[in-house]
Order: sequence, then C-alpha cells, then structure tokens
Amino acid sequence: MPRFVKLATLEELPVGSAKEVEFEGRVYAIYNVEGVISAIDGICPHQGGPLAEGTVEGTTVTCPWHGWQFEIRTGKTPLGSKIKQAVYEVKVEGHDVLVAVP
Ligand code: FES
Repeated sequence: MPRFVKLATLEELPVGSAKEVEFEGRVYAIYNVEGVISAIDGICPHQGGPLAEGTVEGTTVTCPWHGWQFEIRTGKTPLGSKIKQAVYEVKVEGHDVLVAVP
C-alpha cells in the first residue's frame, strides 16, 4: 500500500525545475512542469543516469548521460513498450509535495 510522504516543498520546486530526492533507498526525480508536479524513478534504467538532472522539454526528460527519453507523467519512452519508468502519484498539500512511495 503506497503511503504519501513529504519529499519536497513547492519553494524547492519552482516552475521549470527538478529535484532529486533519496528516500528509503530509492531515488526520486520530481519535476514541476508548468505548475504540475510529477515524480518518477530518478535512476535511468539504461546505466543509472540521474534523471532529475536531465533536460526537460514539454513533459519529456532526456537523460543527461546518453539521451534516453521518458515521458514524465507516464514513464513511457520512445524506445519501446518493454521499458517503462516507474511513476509515483503526487499530492500537494499546502506547500508540501507528497509522493506516494511504494
Ligand atoms: S544512463 Fe540514461 S541514457 Fe544511459
């Protein structure tokens, strides 16, 4: 059962920014795209690149290491349906960004 845990605040995530947060051994990449907060697994499934440091265009993040791309809101990639990045539900309560951690 996922539980919502505060992993960031809105002050830490201005529009257009991203933040990497480690919690209980997992790394989360949290993005603010045009005011909508999304969270995905922050470790690229290719070779472990830091997806929070990737370039974001629209709702697509490009891994800074070798360019794999992921749709921030769905975890899908143009590389094919066998690869899908985990996406975590996000709630904003006041100024707190809560992520549904597994
Ligand atoms: S580690 Fe992300 S594309 Fe290679």
